[in-house]
Amino acid sequence: MAKKAQRAKGQDARPPEPFAHPAEAELARILDFYGIRWEYEPHSFPLRWEGDRVVEAFTPDFYLPDLDLYVEVTTLRGGLNTEKNRKVRLLRQLYPQVRVKLLKRRDVFRLLAKYGYGPLGPDDMPELDRVLIPPQKLQERVAELAKAIEEDYRHLEPVLVGVLRGVICFMADLMRQLTIPITVDFLAISSYGQGGAVRILKDLDEDVRGRHVLLVEDIVDTGITLRKVLDHLEAKGPASLRVCALLDKRARRLVDIPLHYVGFEIPDEFVVGYGLDFRQRYRNLPFIAIVKHHLLA
Ligand code: IMP
Ligand code: MG
Repeated sequence: MAKKAQRAKGQDARPPEPFAHPAEAELARILDFYGIRWEYEPHSFPLRWEGDRVVEAFTPDFYLPDLDLYVEVTTLRGGLNTEKNRKVRLLRQLYPQVRVKLLKRRDVFRLLAKYGYGPLGPDDMPELDRVLIPPQKLQERVAELAKAIEEDYRHLEPVLVGVLRGVICFMADLMRQLTIPITVDFLAISSYGQGGAVRILKDLDEDVRGRHVLLVEDIVDTGITLRKVLDHLEAKGPASLRVCALLDKRARRLVDIPLHYVGFEIPDEFVVGYGLDFRQRYRNLPFIAIVKHHLLA
């Protein structure tokens, strides 16, 4: 701790508690944005002993339990880095099972990209408040949905029908998790007006009469769009018609619709990513994030 206090001296701005260095506070802010849990200096590793007495130890700045990773934040001052490098090397030798990384600021985003958080940092997404569902959770849940669908549709060769464009990521991942024969088709619609008028911009390419249709939706909000789409599909005379929705904003529902498969129930927030947009942006994010409230007024 004395070392930390010393290191903080000579910095222009005092970092907020409990941090000893502004770069650490900055990393914590980034981790919070991504919803990655962190612990600050939770553990000291003894590195050198004289008899029974520990004479040198190393306390990494952060432990990230989600990634099972210790992180030491470095700045650009060379002298300190040499010392840190030496300690990290020693730590790795003495505790080979411990995963530890020395991170410069620019390395943070590379690390997060490696763990599936995508190449963009919070500064590239100023309209977003924070990540609601991280990439790994999305993938795990999509796999579970695929399992349930498989069991229900074995030998039925269902047609998965997606509504463009928001469904693209969900559909792409869901269909690749399915180990039963399926076919895929798409609808494109535009919704406008308060009455929830829905116009079909692109109809299905295949004939679904007598087929088992599974409508795949990105998000169900009021349910008005989904109701119209279901009516449209029902009129085609499918053998069965069910709904699989990745996200369910149940609190805002106006039209009651049975959802057979739901990925996540989410709070009343406007969300983007994984196909969903805000003014056509952010569809390429590999996670679901919340748009800042003041932008929606
Ligand atoms: P609903 O008719 O109110 O259920 O609206 C559903 C459609 O609105 C979805 O298919 C989306 O295109 C859009 N939508 C609703 N909520 C969100 C959101 O939080 N983010 C992005 N698009 C949304
Ligand atoms: Mg949609």
